[in-house]
Amino acid sequence: MSIGERITALTDRLTDLDDKWRDAFHAVPRHLFIPDKAWCHPDDGPGFLIDRTADPEMWLDVAYSNASIVTQIDDGATDLERGQGDYTSSTSAPGVVAAELKLLDPYDGDEVLEIGTGTGWTAGLLASRLGDESVTSMEIDQVLLATATEHLQQAGLSPRLVLGDGAEGWREGAPYDRVHVTCGVREVPYAWVEQTRPGGAIVVPWMPRWAGGHLVKLIAVGDGTAVGGFHSGVDFMLLRSQRWSRPRLEEVYRKSTTYLDPRRVVRSSYGAEVAIAGMLPEVCGTHETQDGGEFHLSLWSDDSDAQVHYAPDYKGVAILQRGPRGLWDELEAAYLQWVSWGSPHRDRFGMTVTPEGQHIWLDSPDRSLSVPMNFGE
Ligand SMILES: C[S@@+](CC[C@H](N)C(=O)[O-])C[C@H]1O[C@@H](n2cnc3c(N)ncnc32)[C@H](O)[C@@H]1O
Repeated sequence: MSIGERITALTDRLTDLDDKWRDAFHAVPRHLFIPDKAWCHPDDGPGFLIDRTADPEMWLDVAYSNASIVTQIDDGATDLERGQGDYTSSTSAPGVVAAELKLLDPYDGDEVLEIGTGTGWTAGLLASRLGDESVTSMEIDQVLLATATEHLQQAGLSPRLVLGDGAEGWREGAPYDRVHVTCGVREVPYAWVEQTRPGGAIVVPWMPRWAGGHLVKLIAVGDGTAVGGFHSGVDFMLLRSQRWSRPRLEEVYRKSTTYLDPRRVVRSSYGAEVAIAGMLPEVCGTHETQDGGEFHLSLWSDDSDAQVHYAPDYKGVAILQRGPRGLWDELEAAYLQWVSWGSPHRDRFGMTVTPEGQHIWLDSPDRSLSVPMNFGE
């Protein structure tokens, strides 16, 4: 199969692409951006190494599949062949790229700031669609940026590439019509709002601590704030300065019981996830279903943690909490608050970013979730 046929087969599956983006996918072949050895990370199965020398056909098959391909682990400290560690750069799955570009929706002539050059593929797609002179892409890792420059040259493209911390944006090129963020953020850096033209858009994968990520499209209002809504679910590697780790705590656990089934809290809906992340921005959680239907939820924040264990024969659910906060108590209250609002779906929530920070709201920007007890008054 020729490269052109492979691209057609891939783009035919990506319903988010309009004709202009489809042309860009053909003009900027993805395989030019993939190293000879990389780690394929499909979302429906285990990861595996792709090696162009050992199996060139399989390497090309993966390049034109809808899989994310990891190109750096632990900021380059771990060999890609191991496939283990923190994934720190990748070319995102084409379906995710298409969804984000659809939301970005630039006009011809728009100037775009991209955060996270990575392999250079999405910078290339933007440059092909809008022209090299309209695209600035920032990358924090010097080695990655050098490789991306080579990839883009091979594709005949030369958008402006800037080595630096994308959290600060790039003032020299502002204002931008569009900011295209390809790493996850817990909090939207205010510099992006300042550097966006009134009416311009910032498309960003919001990766709160609680549960999964969500694509957000924020529009700059012109008064120094940006406001927007939530779209599809996503999973992105984090902006470097916003990575987090689990604290080590020494205190003894306090025991209690709850009658709320924790499985409902973590599996209700994307609406519940956004509401809880908005009300409890510092709380992380992981959970697993164990043999015999048992279920364990682990919560933590910077100074507290909680363990919640459900077993099918329990009437009540055992809770262990320590630190100054009762994280399960807070999670239970936030979840039940969401239920009391009528269990609203994700598309009823939005985000506002101001110089003071960001907050999540329900239905209207003046109905902030950050003070849940006053909500609705
Ligand atoms: C998912 S990859 C980007 C994929 C890229 N758009 C592509 O097409 O290959 C995320 C990238 O963001 C970069 N990154 C992380 N923190 C950053 C920061 N503060 N400023 C700029 N780039 C950053 C990472 O080094 C990584 O290369």
